[in-house]
Amino acid sequence: MAKTHEIVEKNVGLMIILTLVAVSFGGLVEIVPLFFQKQTTQPIEGLKPWTALQLEGRDVYIREGCNTCHSQMIRPFRAETERYGHYSVAGEHVYEHPFLWGSKRTGPDLARVGQRYSDQWHYDHLMDPRDVVPESNMPGFPWLDENILTGDITGAKMEALRAVGVPYTDADIAGAKAAVEGKKEMDALIAYLQGLGTFLSVKR
Ligand code: HEC
Repeated sequence: MAKTHEIVEKNVGLMIILTLVAVSFGGLVEIVPLFFQKQTTQPIEGLKPWTALQLEGRDVYIREGCNTCHSQMIRPFRAETERYGHYSVAGEHVYEHPFLWGSKRTGPDLARVGQRYSDQWHYDHLMDPRDVVPESNMPGFPWLDENILTGDITGAKMEALRAVGVPYTDADIAGAKAAVEGKKEMDALIAYLQGLGTFLSVKR
C-alpha cells in the first residue's frame, strides 16, 4: 500500500489523472441526481412562459447588462426573505434559458420585483433613476424609450426555446410578431420586470 502511494506521489502525470478522476466522481455524485429530482425539474404550478413582449424585454435586460448589477435569486435566509419576499425555488426557473440568478448585487435582487411598483415608476426610474431614488447610482437607460421593436425574430426565439422544453404553442409563435411589432423596448422591459417572481402563489 505504502509502495503504491509512493508511485502516485512521485509521478505527477499519474497524480493529475487520479485527482481528476476523484474530483469528477465527486462532482457527478452531486450534480447528476439533480437532473432527475422532480423538485428541480418540474415547473411550479401555474408557471407560464414569458409572453412575446416579455421575452423581448428579457433580451433587452440581458443586452443592457442589468444582470451584472442585479441578481434574481433570493436565498432562504431571514434577512433576504424579509426584504425581497419568498425565497426563490428551482421550479420557478425551469423555462429560463439562460437563467439570470447571478450573485453580484450592486443593486437589489429583482427576483420578485414584479407588481411591486407601477409601470410609471419603472418608466421614470429607467429614464433617470435619480428622479425617483435621489441617492441611486444606477445608470439611466433613456434610449429604450426610442428603440422600436420589429418582432422579426421573436417567433424564431420562441421556437428555439420550445426546442429546449418551453411550452410555447403554435399560436403563441404565430402571433409573436404582431404582439411585439412597433412597441418600444422600454415597454417590453417593463412588461418583463412586472412579471418577475409573480408565479409563485405564496409570497411572504
Ligand atoms: C451599475 C449597476 C446597475 C445597473 C447596470 C442596473 N442597475 Fe438597477 N439598480 C442599481 C442600484 C444601485 C439600485 C438601487 C437604487 C435605485 O433604486 O435606483 C437599482 C435599483 C433597481 C430597481 C428597483 C429595485 C427595488 O426593489 O427597489 C429596478 C427595478 C432596477 N434597478 C432595474 C434595472 C434594470 C431593468 C436594469 C437594466 C436596464 C438595471 N436595473 C441596471 C444598479 C444597477
